[in-house]
Formats: sequence, C-alpha cells, structure tokens
Amino acid sequence: MSRFDSYEEYDGYEEEFTRNDRQARRKRKPQARHVPKRANSEIIEAIADTAGLEAGFHTTYRPGLFEQGWLLESLRGFYDQAYITDVLALVKGGKEANVYRCEVHERLDFPLLAAKIYRPRMFRQLRNDKMYREGRAILKEDGHAAKETDHRLMRAVAKKTEFGVSVQHTSWLMHEYTTLQKLYSLGAAVPQPIASGENGILMGYCGDEGLAAPPLSEVKLQRHEVEPLFREVMRNIELMLQNGMIHGDLSAYNILYWDGKITLIDFPQVTDSRSNSNARAILERDITRVCQYFRSQGMKPNPNDILRSFWRRYVERNAEDVKADLSRMLEGNEE
Ligand SMILES: Nc1ncnc2c1ncn2[C@@H]1O[C@H](COP(=O)(O)OP(=O)(O)O)[C@@H](O)[C@H]1O
Ligand SMILES: [Mg+2]
Repeated sequence: MSRFDSYEEYDGYEEEFTRNDRQARRKRKPQARHVPKRANSEIIEAIADTAGLEAGFHTTYRPGLFEQGWLLESLRGFYDQAYITDVLALVKGGKEANVYRCEVHERLDFPLLAAKIYRPRMFRQLRNDKMYREGRAILKEDGHAAKETDHRLMRAVAKKTEFGVSVQHTSWLMHEYTTLQKLYSLGAAVPQPIASGENGILMGYCGDEGLAAPPLSEVKLQRHEVEPLFREVMRNIELMLQNGMIHGDLSAYNILYWDGKITLIDFPQVTDSRSNSNARAILERDITRVCQYFRSQGMKPNPNDILRSFWRRYVERNAEDVKADLSRMLEGNEE
C-alpha cells in the first residue's frame, strides 16, 4: 500500500471519528457520498496496528483517534532520529497544519521544539497556491529544485496524478523549510529550522512549557514597544526582499509575540519577488495587513509609501543591477 492510499484511509477515520458523541450515537442515515468500506471494528484494529508500529514512541499528549495515525507516522522520523522524545501538547490545529509542542532529546540544546505537521487532507486539497507557485521551482525532499528536464515529474505535476500531487506537497513543505533555513542564516526573526520530514518540519518553539507564544493579532502592545516592533517587521520584509523573497501570507496572525520579541512564521507560500508576475500585489497585501495591525496599536504607517519605497529599492533596483551586469559582460565580450 502506498503512503497515499494510507492517508486516504485516515480521511475515512476522520469522517468516522470527528463527529461529536451525540452525532456518533445517532444512527447514520445511508449516504451516497461516503460508504465506509470497512466495519468500525476493522478500522479501529487498523489504527491499533499503526499505533503498534510506533512501539516505544509513547506521547504525553493524547491524540484523538483519527489524529493518532498520521500524527505518529509524521513525527516518528523525528523521534527515531533522536530529535524529540515526546509530544507534550497540541499548540494549535489549523486547516492545513497542526503544530505540537515537543520534548527535545538531550543531545540538542533546546528547551522545547515545535513540530508543524501538515494534515493528510493536503494530499487531496492543496491550498489554491497557483498564484504563489509561479516563478518558483518545484523542490524535492532533499530541498533541491527538480529539473525542468525531468519530464516524468513535470508531466505528473501538470496532470495532477497521485505522484504529481505528492510532489507538490513535498515542494510546498520544502519551500517552507528551505525558506526558514535561508532566513535564519541571514539573521531574520524566524524559528530555527531543525529537521524536515515527509509530512512536517521541526523548528524552534516560541513560548514556554505552559503557553505557546500568541500571535500579534491577540496582543495589545505597550506603547513603547509599538514602533520598535514595527521596525523589526519591516527589517524582516526588507531582508526577504533583498534575497528575492516575499512572505505571501504575512499578517498579525503569522507573527508570534513572546517576551517583547516577534517571530515571523508560516512560510510555505513564500513568493519569488523577481519572477512572479503577482509579486507586487502579494507584497502590497503583506505590507497592508501588517500596517493594519500597527494602526490598531496607534501608529499611522502608510502602506503605499512603504510599498513604493521597498519595491524601488529592492526589486526594480535589482532588475537594473542585472541589466547593468549583463551590459558590462557584453562590453567585455566586445573588447
Ligand atoms: N515555532 C512555533 N512556536 C510556537 N507556536 C507556533 C510555532 N509555529 C507555529 N505555531 C503556532 O501554530 C499556529 C499554526 O502555524 P502556522 O505555521 O501559522 O500554520 P497554518 O498554515 O496552519 O496557519 C500558529 O498560528 C501558532 O499559533
Ligand atoms: Mg498561519
């Protein structure tokens, strides 16, 4: 059985087990839409089998029945490779990913780590990411770009075959991971990337044992913090632009606040500022949303002015640099 078959199975479990108790007790009307292929007892047995595979990996956090299979399967690599020793809590369950607080193996010097695990649903319903994908490579599991000349792969992606969809999934995840690597090494305010797996990434955790860092959207800043933190967000946007990147989903929801400091998160849709034809609109939306939050905190930044200035300085300027370089090279050839 391929791993995608097995995820399809988990989706069955999800439908089976996420209904609340009252619903679950109610006798199900026959539905044309979803006919369970196996009796409940068989499904539960299969889950128990999956859990059996994880022998030794006992988590303090008790995952829901449906969550258990894919959670343990997704995290097992991090456990086997001695990155984490336990899953302590679910930090947040989103539509596309769950983030868990993890206990760290003693060989690593971190109090805690965050594991972001993509939900199996992703295999069937990729976020409408076409706009972001334009102008960026398909990344493979090793983080390297697939070659345009890899016709088998490119055709599978274009035709959205099962293999093609899994390639896109990996690419989505690896864009998030390699962006974290790059930004972290450049000194951006992002979680430190620790490891990537088939279905998730492991990174530095913001918060403590009891509480994960809230997003800015839930924080009322003290007056003296507002401007320095705004500048810090702008520094990060500029750093990204200097390296040809736009976050693509930046807002007070994807900026965490802890101990007076901010951390930018959630990068799978990172956009190429130079080769994506929507880049300017995407950047405009990022800047506008950030400004919206800082307006609510008493500042009056003008998103249009910032956009114009950043675009001119980091995107157009770069394009000019390339042209200038090319002219210089051509001149060299003529001599
Ligand atoms: N490194 C981290 N440390 C602590 N909490 C985190 C971390 N990364 C993500 N989270 C929490 O998990 C939530 C979802 O993560 P995010 O990367 O934004 O995925 P999604 O695509 O589901 O929005 C965040 O809003 C935040 O509350
Ligand atoms: Mg998010």
